[in-house]
Amino acid sequence: MYRIVSAIFLAENIKKFVIEAPRVAKKRMAGQFVMLRIEENGERFPLTIADSDPENGTITLIVQGAGKSTRALNGMEAGEMISDLVGPLGTPSHIEYFGTAVSIGGGVGTAIAYPTAAALKAAGNYVITINGARTKELVILEDEMKAVSDEAYITTDDGSYGISGFVTQKLQELIDTGRKIDFVLAIGPIPMMKAVAEVTRPYGIKTVVSLNPIMIDGTGMCGGCRVTVGNEIKFACVDGPEFDAHLVDFKNLADRNRIYLKEEKESAESGVHHCRLTEQM
Ligand code: NAD
Ligand code: FES
Repeated sequence: MYRIVSAIFLAENIKKFVIEAPRVAKKRMAGQFVMLRIEENGERFPLTIADSDPENGTITLIVQGAGKSTRALNGMEAGEMISDLVGPLGTPSHIEYFGTAVSIGGGVGTAIAYPTAAALKAAGNYVITINGARTKELVILEDEMKAVSDEAYITTDDGSYGISGFVTQKLQELIDTGRKIDFVLAIGPIPMMKAVAEVTRPYGIKTVVSLNPIMIDGTGMCGGCRVTVGNEIKFACVDGPEFDAHLVDFKNLADRNRIYLKEEKESAESGVHHCRLTEQM
C-alpha cells in the first residue's frame, strides 16, 4: 500500500499528489512513469512521475481527472492509501548538452515536460520553456518551470494570461527571429505534439514527444501501447514513451486512443470497469 502524503488541486480537475514510494523515488529518472491501481480489482493506468524526493522517499504525480480511474484518484486525500504502484517504468529521457533546448508543455502535459526541462537545465543547456493552457486558471507549475528556465513563456488560447495563442505560435516566433534552437521537447495533447513536429520539421530541429497511448501492463507484454514510429511498431511503455516527433504516426496514435472511448464512457457512467483489452490478454 502507498500512502498519499499530500493532495492539492493546482487547477480545476488537475491535482498534485505526493506519495510515499521510497524505492521508486530512489531509482526514478526524468521521463519515467508508474502504473497505478487505486484498489485491488481496479484499472491499471500510467502516470508520468513529475518529481521525486529520494531523501523523504516520495514521488510527485500530477493528475488530470479524465477517465473513471483518474477521477477516482482525484477524489482521494492525504492519508489515504493506493493499492498498487509499480515503477519506475519506461526509458528515461535522453539528456545531453544540445545547446539551446525548448521545452513545450501543453495543459497537463506541462507536468511531464517539467522534470525533463529540469534535467536539460542540469546538463548545461540554455532552456526556454513554453507552457500553454486554454485559459489562465488552467496554467500549472508556472514557478517551477521558471526556476529551471533561462527564458519562460506562458501562452493561453483565450489570451487571459501571458501571450495570446497556441504554444506553436511562440515557437514559430522564436524561430522567425533567428534564434538557434538545437532541441525541442513537446508534451501535451496529440494535436499539439503533431503541430510542434510540423513547425520544427522544415528547419531540421531535433524534436522529441512523449506519447500517451493506452497502457495495460506497462512492461511490454500486452501490446496495448503499440505506436508506429518510422514505419516500425514500438511499444511506448518500454521503447518510449519519448520518440522522435518527425517519425511518429500521430493519426495512428489518435485512432488507437479512440478505440475504447465507448467502453470508457460506459464504465465511467456505470461505475464498473469494463476493459476489453484485458479480456483479450
Ligand atoms: P489542452 O487541450 O488544454 O491544450 C493545451 C495547449 O496545447 C493549448 O493551450 C495549446 O497551446 C496547445 N494546443 C492544443 N491544440 C493545439 C494545436 N492543434 N496546435 C497547436 N497547439 C495546440 O490540453 P489539456 O486538456 O490539458 O490536455 C489534455 C490532453 O493531453 C489529453 O488528451 C491527454 O491525454 C493529453 N496528455 C498527453 C500527455 C503525454 O504524455 N503526451 C500527458 C498528459 C496529457
Ligand atoms: Fe502493455 Fe506496453 S502497456 S505492452
